[in-house]
Amino acid sequence: MKYLKKSLCAVLSIGIITGSVIGPGTYALAQTTATPVVDSTAPVGTITKVMVTFCGDATTQKGFTWYTSTASINSDLQIVEKTTDTTDFTNAVKFTGNCAVPSNNTAAPAPAGTTTSKLEFLHKAEATGLKANTTYFYRIGDASLNLWSTGTFQTAPTSGAFTFIDVADPQAKDYDEGLLAASTFQKALDTVPDSKFIELNGDIVDKGSVEYEWDWLFNNIGQKFLNTTIAPIAGNHDEYNGCFLDHFDLAPAQGSDTTTGVYYSHDYSNAHFVMLNCNETSANDLSPAQITWLTNDITNAKANGAKWIIVNMHKGPYSTSNHATDIDLAGPNGARQTLSPLFAQLGVDLVLQGHDHIYARSKPIKADNTAAPETLSTELFQGHNIQYEVNPGAPVYLIPATAGPKVYYKNQSIITNPAANGYDPNFYNLFDVADENHAAIYGAAVGDATRPERKNIQTFESITVDSDKLSVISYEIDQNRDNATPYIIDSFGLKK
Ligand SMILES: [Fe+2]
Ligand SMILES: [Fe+2]
Repeated sequence: MKYLKKSLCAVLSIGIITGSVIGPGTYALAQTTATPVVDSTAPVGTITKVMVTFCGDATTQKGFTWYTSTASINSDLQIVEKTTDTTDFTNAVKFTGNCAVPSNNTAAPAPAGTTTSKLEFLHKAEATGLKANTTYFYRIGDASLNLWSTGTFQTAPTSGAFTFIDVADPQAKDYDEGLLAASTFQKALDTVPDSKFIELNGDIVDKGSVEYEWDWLFNNIGQKFLNTTIAPIAGNHDEYNGCFLDHFDLAPAQGSDTTTGVYYSHDYSNAHFVMLNCNETSANDLSPAQITWLTNDITNAKANGAKWIIVNMHKGPYSTSNHATDIDLAGPNGARQTLSPLFAQLGVDLVLQGHDHIYARSKPIKADNTAAPETLSTELFQGHNIQYEVNPGAPVYLIPATAGPKVYYKNQSIITNPAANGYDPNFYNLFDVADENHAAIYGAAVGDATRPERKNIQTFESITVDSDKLSVISYEIDQNRDNATPYIIDSFGLKK
């Protein structure tokens, strides 16, 4: 029995271009059954782990999640349209959310040497009835305690160009690694200051049931993080105890199981984003119900005029490192043989992936798992000459390595070892970029010769959708180079 709330996101939310129904009527606030009981003797403390998310129609709704001490049981959200730089909530629109006991309160062992209590309350609230393409001030917290955290958010436009950031696998497993991963988010937001949201491709933390890991990442990203929107999916490291949904206010697909992650979709201008949960038990990591849902969701989106279909999935079919030979990806019923053809048939344009901790970019991959012929056109974009795939007619698969410390070498067995799953001596011909991990120059990790040394290299993407052009600039950070200033390692585009 899950602890459920009536959700303002639960109304039948008609996406601006999808027409798909997203919102089951009720959804899980947290996986625990415990009832929150306020502890008036607990220190009030501060608001932590604030997440602003798409929650239904991105033009009119927004979701908020935050954590407090057990002194705060009220979940108050106030918003006011931003017309000046002065924040004044006197005439704010007020929303009341819900409070729960997070699953990690009971599941999470404290890291060695930590004695701090981890008793917290989880809060969620939604803003609805918003105006499209509008900036609002918001504050979340507990009015009775005058406890607030303040930021801004923007609603989606119904048309026009936009830019977003994409990152994968921050996956920090100690405080210093959390700082490192947080700095990648900060640098991405600084480098792409006009970004409207951040797509996060899973493995957000190293062990989702260790609540401290969520603190180490999210509480160190800084104020700019409170002024953007995050669109996350769960990785396999985030699948424990419903911990993923405990950190994000999302609108799961109707009737879906949210124990290990959430599948949902959101529109933004003329693009439709399909967010998958690869933690379900099946040969390709997606349940039959999820495959039915994504098929209908993409079909409806295209029927309603979506120009671009962008899939975000943690365990992607086309990557170039350790996991490229995993049975769930490369086996006879794995993602490469089952999901990749489906994506091509459904007209998916771009697949954003995680899990394999290396940068790689495929050619357009047809339904028969061969590369489509490429027609390239070089055009200037933001001062850079970018090669655009013209009418590729098949999805391109991109994996942006990692926003955090963990890195893998390029997989050689897939081309050299006939016993490997997916063995194909020509496999890397399916890629336009299939380099060795740039972290390899720093040598093998101490104590683990199978991986490059951690922490040296991070990556993030800037992706711009403008009418019939989609432009990608890939940035890398080398902690040992140029004061860890981001630099461009790759760019490409799609045009149709
Ligand atoms: Fe990972
Ligand atoms: Fe993973």
